[in-house]
Amino acid sequence: MKGGVGKVTRAKVGKIADRAANGGAGGPVVVLVIHGPNLNLLGEREPEVYGRTRLADIDKELKRLGSELEMKVETFQSNSEGGIVDRIQNARGKCDVLLINPGAYTHTSVAIRDAIAAVNIPVVEVHLSNVYRREPFRHHSTIADIAHGRIMGFGAESYTLALRAARTIAQESRRRSG
Ligand code: DQA
Repeated sequence: MKGGVGKVTRAKVGKIADRAANGGAGGPVVVLVIHGPNLNLLGEREPEVYGRTRLADIDKELKRLGSELEMKVETFQSNSEGGIVDRIQNARGKCDVLLINPGAYTHTSVAIRDAIAAVNIPVVEVHLSNVYRREPFRHHSTIADIAHGRIMGFGAESYTLALRAARTIAQESRRRSG
């Protein structure tokens, strides 16, 4: 009898510990990372601007860091605006935080902005380069004012910094919603 009670207690304690590690709610924090147009060419494309790290290596590192931080990381790349809108819509209710580098669509896409506003998922806007050190047309972002925050200018490290920020955002929001 004593052993039985002990087992239940340990299981309960384990569950509470898991929930605490995951920010107070059940299940791991889920982060969706979306890469926009031309980012599939990272490593070869203008390496003096974007660095030599390939997209596959960025995704691999995000998944590795995600599992270290007990988060589930999903990644997606599309060269098409519609593909990105569809993926954002599909994330509704299924992910805690969205990291997005919309590439050139950053500067033009009302559709991506509207999709983000529609799904009500906190967003971290990510850029490899510091867009403010570049041409004026890159200074405008259609999502900057609805993003939780923006990280740019650190090359591939922009993504890992953003993933750490995503963990904090998710934990705070789960804590708030109990
Ligand atoms: C970028 C900056 C954009 O201006 C550009 O069109 C990109 C990449 C970046 O990560 O620095 O494709 O989003």
